[in-house]
Order: sequence, then C-alpha cells, then structure tokens
Amino acid sequence: MRVDVVTIFPDYLAPLQLSLIGRAQRLGLLDLHVHDLRGWTEDRHRTVDDTPAGGGAGMVMLPEPWGRALDAVHRCEGPDGPVGPLPPAGDGAEPPLLLVPSPSGRPLDQSTAHALAAEPRLVVACGRYEGIDERVLVDAAQRYRVQPFSLGDYVLNGGEVAALALVEAVGRLLPGVVGNPDSLLEESHEQGLLEHPVYTRPPRWRDLDVPDVLLSGHHGQVARWRREQGLRRTARRRPDLLAALVARDPAALDAAD
Ligand code: ADE
Repeated sequence: MRVDVVTIFPDYLAPLQLSLIGRAQRLGLLDLHVHDLRGWTEDRHRTVDDTPAGGGAGMVMLPEPWGRALDAVHRCEGPDGPVGPLPPAGDGAEPPLLLVPSPSGRPLDQSTAHALAAEPRLVVACGRYEGIDERVLVDAAQRYRVQPFSLGDYVLNGGEVAALALVEAVGRLLPGVVGNPDSLLEESHEQGLLEHPVYTRPPRWRDLDVPDVLLSGHHGQVARWRREQGLRRTARRRPDLLAALVARDPAALDAAD
C-alpha cells in the first residue's frame, strides 16, 4: 500500500519510522511518503493560511497550495517531482481515497481501518488552524474519493496526530506487518466487543492473583472466561457497542459452547 501524507509539520510523522510500522516500510509492505505543504507555496514567506471569510477567530488554510499539493500527490509527485513508483496506468481503477482528519469527520473505527487496509493508495491531508478552505475538498472530489474522518469527539490542534493514528491502525492490518495474524482477531473491536483483561507471570504479584482458570490449562474454560469478561467489560465501559452488536446480530450474545 502507498500512503502520502501532506502536512506543514512533516517531523510530526517521524514516529512512523519506529516499531512495526517502520519495519513494514523497510520490508516494502508500506510505501509511506510525507510531504511538506509549504513546498507548494509560491511566495517568499511560504504562506499557507489567511483570515476566515466572514470574520471570526483563527486562520483558514489557503486553497492554492493545497490544490497544487493534491494535484501533484495524485500523480505521485512531491514538491520537487516524482517520488516512489509511478501510479498504475489509468485502467478504470477507483480514484485514490483522500482522508481528511477533522473533528467534523466520521469517527474512525476498526471496520473502517479494515476497509482502508484493502486500498492500494491513501492520501492524508492534514489541516491546521480552523481547517482547510472547503473548496479544496470540493475540487479534490473530481479526482479523489474524499473522506473526512475524526479521531474522536474532541479537538486537536491539527490533523497530524490523527494521521499517525490512522497509518498505525491501518498499517498493522496489512498482510505480514503483525507477526502472528491470530493476535489481531482477539483484539478489542474485532468482534464488536472490548477485549478481556490479560495477565502474565508471576501468578501472584502484590497479593493479586492471576485468575485460576487461566492457569488451569483448560482451553475451553479459558475461552469461555475470556468471552464473559469481554462482555462484562463492554457492558460496563461501552454499552453503546453492546447495543450496536445486538442490533446487527440479535444472536450475537448467545453462548457459543
Ligand atoms: N483535527 C482536529 N481535531 C481532530 C479530531 N478530533 N480528529 C481528527 N482530526 C482532527
């Protein structure tokens, strides 16, 4: 998968060189390119923002640099020309997805992460300040599938943290990135529930014991205990998830013995 991120703070994305996602890039499983939006400015001050039309506080990102950036990135170019392999010749393939982090986007969830992991190309446009001039997204819709997304119902200073979260959530689902793919199946949100609590050695620590069932060696009982704990935890912390699961599949909570 190729991912291009456009931002005025490319260094914000540096952690993506670490750990599993860094390794995925070195193995050629993820082709990540981070671009500085200011490379597409044409004035001496490399201006990327201006005051909001209609007045009000804050600044809005200018359409011109964003328009040039998204045109170039669509052709797999950075500010200085082509980067990475050229896009496949136009063979009727779907236009690339343009993901726009925004508190007014649809919240990112695990099923969206799976859908994104099946895409050959993602472009992430990180806004700052009060956001990007809306015309940029209207114009981009001519050559991208534009998808604003939110990290949650709170406001960040810009889209970079959301881009980090997105690339990590999607990148770890790419084949070969996580060593044991079975570990992905048991995680929170994969079955519409939160994951059960986990323990390791020692069996007793500060007077606190690992639950007996986990040391019993009885796989069936362990599986039942984990499912029940996952359900309890979901009911307590995220009753909304439980309600959504039952609405989708009324038999979802039936015991699976
Ligand atoms: N930019 C600012 N706040 C954001 C949020 N909650 N999610 C995604 N992008 C954002």
